[in-house]
Amino acid sequence: MIDLNAVRADTPAASRRVFLDSAGSSLPPRPVLDAVVGHLEREAEVGGYVAAREREDDLEAGYGVFAELLGAEPDEIAFTDSATRSWLAAFDAVPLAAGDRVLITEVEYAGNAVPILHRAHEVGASVETIPSDARGQVDVEALKELLDERVKLVSLVHVPTNSGLVNPVREVVEAAHGVGALVLLDACQSIGQLPVRADELGVDLISGTGRKWLRGPRGTGVLVVRRSAREVLRPRLVDLRSGEWVGPREYRLREDARVFELWEAAVADRLGLIAAARYALDLGVDEIRREVADRADRLRRGLAQVPGVELRDIGEQRSGIVTFTAGRPVVELREALAGHGVVVSTSHVGSTLLDMTRRGLDGVMRASPHYFVEPAQVDQAVEAVSRCVR
Ligand SMILES: Cc1ncc(COP(=O)(O)O)c(C=O)c1O
Repeated sequence: MIDLNAVRADTPAASRRVFLDSAGSSLPPRPVLDAVVGHLEREAEVGGYVAAREREDDLEAGYGVFAELLGAEPDEIAFTDSATRSWLAAFDAVPLAAGDRVLITEVEYAGNAVPILHRAHEVGASVETIPSDARGQVDVEALKELLDERVKLVSLVHVPTNSGLVNPVREVVEAAHGVGALVLLDACQSIGQLPVRADELGVDLISGTGRKWLRGPRGTGVLVVRRSAREVLRPRLVDLRSGEWVGPREYRLREDARVFELWEAAVADRLGLIAAARYALDLGVDEIRREVADRADRLRRGLAQVPGVELRDIGEQRSGIVTFTAGRPVVELREALAGHGVVVSTSHVGSTLLDMTRRGLDGVMRASPHYFVEPAQVDQAVEAVSRCVR
């Protein structure tokens, strides 16, 4: 059991408002704040280079912390400055040529779709969408029909930005590997609220962010590159962190995942990110999943009773993201709820074009309670929604 009083004591703002936006950017706990602010103060004292050298061991240990969190080896972890940067670094290194095929799901995120379409257009590859099944999740049988050896990549969003869906991963990976395709898992919305383990899921590549469910600082991201995938990838955006200049015309790239890191980084944020992962591991990822599911179920049950509210979550397995519409423009409703001390965000058609268009939605309300939200606060949020839609 997570000690609610203890985690709320680490998160003072959790008592000042009903915070339901961990899918947007969560509230970092005290150890994360201390790690970031403490390092910034040290940089101001001795300069960034000396301050970084003082924390070399902790920075190195961070690869082990994330390896533990994500079911990988330390040399399969790279740190970046966002989920998108992680995703782009991996995608850009997937060899793609004319005639190759890339498969996406109906809940593909715009930040992935744009680069996929752009690169496919440039190299003459095609992009095809795997249909969803009747429950709204990726249809694995339909995927099997689509697969052949020209499919080089399956881009799979674990938890989409705009609904409570959790896509099945292992089944997709098994099918994709049958034709030699790589699977790049966008775990931006799942790391920190659900177990995401590369060893159990079998995925080749995982991208994630710090600021959402992991409760890390903004401007942080992580990338998992399995050793088997590293052999296939052709990194293109490389610098002196990615490799060494060993002769006038010779260079040697790193063989591990850190080939995808650039030399310059916000060290304070990196330390905060590592502190956030440690915090999650100390609480227990399964405990976190249970508590988040408890709050999200409570919220769905409450909202289902409010006249005029329509829940918009799809899929068989649900995450901590609760989406709904209520007959009022979503941004207007978000601001009205803010007036009641309830923080939620909205998601719009442009972020998940295929799914939102298919379901005839322009925008949805997105409420994402983390484990630090009290059950009574969830009820407060339901009451606020009911007042705002009346
Ligand atoms: C599913 C999904 N993928 C990727 C991203 C991009 O993450 P970042 O802003 O950290 O690059 C988001 C952000 O909301 C997301 O919801």
